[in-house]
Amino acid sequence: MFSKAIVRIPSRSMTKGITEHPELGVPDYGLALKQHEAYIRALERCGLSITVLPALEEFPDSCFVEDVAVCTPDFALVTNPGASTRKHETQGIADILSAFVPVVERIQEPGTLEGGDVMMVGRHFYIGLSRRTNQAGANAFIDILKRYGRTGETVTMPPTLHLKTGLSYLEGNVLLVDQGFAAYKQFAAFDRIAVPATESYAANCVRVNEYVLVPSGNPAVLASIKARGLATIELDMSEYRKLDGGLSCLSLRF
Ligand code: GLY
Repeated sequence: MFSKAIVRIPSRSMTKGITEHPELGVPDYGLALKQHEAYIRALERCGLSITVLPALEEFPDSCFVEDVAVCTPDFALVTNPGASTRKHETQGIADILSAFVPVVERIQEPGTLEGGDVMMVGRHFYIGLSRRTNQAGANAFIDILKRYGRTGETVTMPPTLHLKTGLSYLEGNVLLVDQGFAAYKQFAAFDRIAVPATESYAANCVRVNEYVLVPSGNPAVLASIKARGLATIELDMSEYRKLDGGLSCLSLRF
């Protein structure tokens, strides 16, 4: 169960955020703020108390706070983002996390790692070797996990931004799987929900206690999750999708 979340208010500069989908257009800042507010209300409905961090104008992608840290019950990790414009988003995060967890670990150069590449399944962690997370970063994280009685393994990535762009663990052995990961033997033992190509964006959903947050406009994925007996909350993510950001990217949950 999660009891807390950290989010960061989007900056006006988010219109200059990194995107692999410029054809979707530039985010509407006012609408993005409204969607962010709805996201916070949804996390509250899931029973979380929320720490809201202020916007950081110098960092256009800083609302995607998941990438700068990984939170576990025993420790938090401040990452080292692989995207050059995101490196310094980690400033101040250790102080914020140390209010909640006893120990804050760090990924150091030459290691890079972004939280979007980390998928927690109980005490085991999958780490995507993406353009943002390198082998040195993954190895350093696995060494840290071992010290806390946890385990980790790396995942070779299809051409997708982050591991959780294409996979979401919904607890109870249920895994949402986008087509890029469909043939991976690594995930064969899960009860997999195949995400159709037309709803690929919905491969990033988030299980928060009794609910699964689902991006609106993805009826097949929504129906598959409901068919597993899970309660859902749909959220409009149109403005974050323009920056390749998904539901998990907008918070740290612990
Ligand atoms: N625009 C989010 C990211 O590229 O990290």
